[in-house]
Amino acid sequence: MNLDEILKDAEREFAIAGNLPVLDQVKARYIGKSGAITEQMKGLAALPVDQRKTMGARINQIKDQVEALLKARREAIQAEELGRQLAAESLDVTLPGRGVGVGGLHPVSRTLARIEQLFASIGFVVADGPEIETDFYNFTALNIPDNHPARAMHDTFYLDGGALLRTHTSPVQVHYMQNKQPPLRIIAPGRVYRVDSDATHSPMFHQVEGLWVDEQVSFADLKGVVQDFLQRFFEREELRVRFRPSFFPFTEPSAEIDMSWGEASENRWLEIGGCGMVHPNVFGHVGIDPERYQGFAFGMGVERLAMLRYGVDDLRLFFENDVRFLKQFA
Ligand code: PHE
Repeated sequence: MNLDEILKDAEREFAIAGNLPVLDQVKARYIGKSGAITEQMKGLAALPVDQRKTMGARINQIKDQVEALLKARREAIQAEELGRQLAAESLDVTLPGRGVGVGGLHPVSRTLARIEQLFASIGFVVADGPEIETDFYNFTALNIPDNHPARAMHDTFYLDGGALLRTHTSPVQVHYMQNKQPPLRIIAPGRVYRVDSDATHSPMFHQVEGLWVDEQVSFADLKGVVQDFLQRFFEREELRVRFRPSFFPFTEPSAEIDMSWGEASENRWLEIGGCGMVHPNVFGHVGIDPERYQGFAFGMGVERLAMLRYGVDDLRLFFENDVRFLKQFA
């Protein structure tokens, strides 16, 4: 092969080499140990002395050209690779920022805060108690003895070792009265648990317990406090509240609290809680003299109140935590 052809071939092959490893392989074919140009050099020895010099110079010249071509191609490949890398990592610094969303309180938290604030304004303090309870606090001290049918009605989650998840906030009454003497005026908001789940029941939900114990507390006070609270909570002067006779082992007499909803003519009533006068047996369990003191207690469903206030018709929405739902309350 003559030198001009070698040069032309090298030029063509360098141009096709798309990356550095391939370029190095091509390079070896020309100026490697047994490359075409190296072979030409080796061939010099066989030439007559007078031709060796000119031929040697000529080979060196071609070799320089091949090396220059190689260098140029190597730089071109490196530039291409750098360009590709930069394009892949490109940052458009002129793009607007994504923005930081502002969080908001969960509707149930807002409702609890509102309830606490309204009761605080009439002198109730907030009390709390454990969510994991014993049989004594959740049932026995509340005048629900062993084998009482009310236990079955509570759909209790039992834990290993006999503890249970409280089924209502009423055990907080017991804890509080064990530690304090009347007069007492508390609300106890918190989580409660029942084996129950559908559009209007969740296995975990919130109640707010109320308790007022003093020497002269009557059912009329109970009605007044509840009616006043609901009117203020719903910001409706004309709100109608109904106390429907009912039964709870820990209150006597007892009533269910119903609230009229929609137009008065529709006569739609919704149950939002239970209430009554503290049963003397409950006072007996906590060492308060039932001859001297009376009290009333109530328990309301917090999600029920939130659903009515915000017009939400499925309780589960409160617990799915879909931001599209939650956002509306922020
Ligand atoms: N603890 C009752 C319930 O969960 C509600 C209630 C509370 C009733 C206080 C009377 C007095 O159903």
